[in-house]
Amino acid sequence: MNKEQLNGFKAWFDKFVAGFYGDNEYINANIKLKEEHSGRVCSEILYLADQLHLVGNQRLLAETIAIFHDVGRFPQFIKYQTYSDPKSINHCLLGLEVLQKENVLAQLTDDERETIETAICYHGEKELPGNLTGDTLLLSKMIRDADKLDIFNVIIKAYIQRRDDPDNFKLEMEMPDEPGFTPEVLDAILTGSRIDYKMLRTWNDMKLCILGWVYDVNFAPTLRRLKQRRHLETIFEFLPDTPDIRKVREKIFAYVDSRLK
Ligand SMILES: [Fe+2]
Repeated sequence: MNKEQLNGFKAWFDKFVAGFYGDNEYINANIKLKEEHSGRVCSEILYLADQLHLVGNQRLLAETIAIFHDVGRFPQFIKYQTYSDPKSINHCLLGLEVLQKENVLAQLTDDERETIETAICYHGEKELPGNLTGDTLLLSKMIRDADKLDIFNVIIKAYIQRRDDPDNFKLEMEMPDEPGFTPEVLDAILTGSRIDYKMLRTWNDMKLCILGWVYDVNFAPTLRRLKQRRHLETIFEFLPDTPDIRKVREKIFAYVDSRLK
């Protein structure tokens, strides 16, 4: 693919998203959240592309995947008023449907299109399937890391806004902000096992789940960026200071440091 095609994809995306804004403030705020997220994921993936010394086509494909990875989020929110896949629809597959229906990737080669579609298809799954290879594997790993980097950013901003200006807080938060944790979630993070999203009941569970993402990070530069931005520390500031949480903290930081050595 070439730079003109990439510019065409950006223009298509902007036009597509513009069609979802209307006169409902709540919907607009949530659409804007994902529009801005998509833009920042492009920056994150280009950071990773630099760190991993990607050039030419790989870079263009990486940016294309970032632009389109959440294209399913917009029709998802309009139809269901939620970003929770279990409560609505798989937004990755919905995104592929949109791209296919609108023939957005038709001008690319079959290989390029397949790589992009595969990376989008699995970006939100618990893990990647074991049969991916080459650029498809590399780019699928990159979008998962780039997406996580920005979700840390979004979640932290939401916590801060809700704490400092609760009256103007307009985002959908999916679960109740109750004290305490679901024991299985705490257990999973302490044993380093995967947290099933279905286990999550409260905001605190969600915070633990997000901290547990460090185990899923594919590339050291992703962890370096998380560390430089102090995102992990900030999430711990929003968790209660209990012996269990202190244990989680020790474990997470020791793990990140071991990967960055
Ligand atoms: Fe997504």
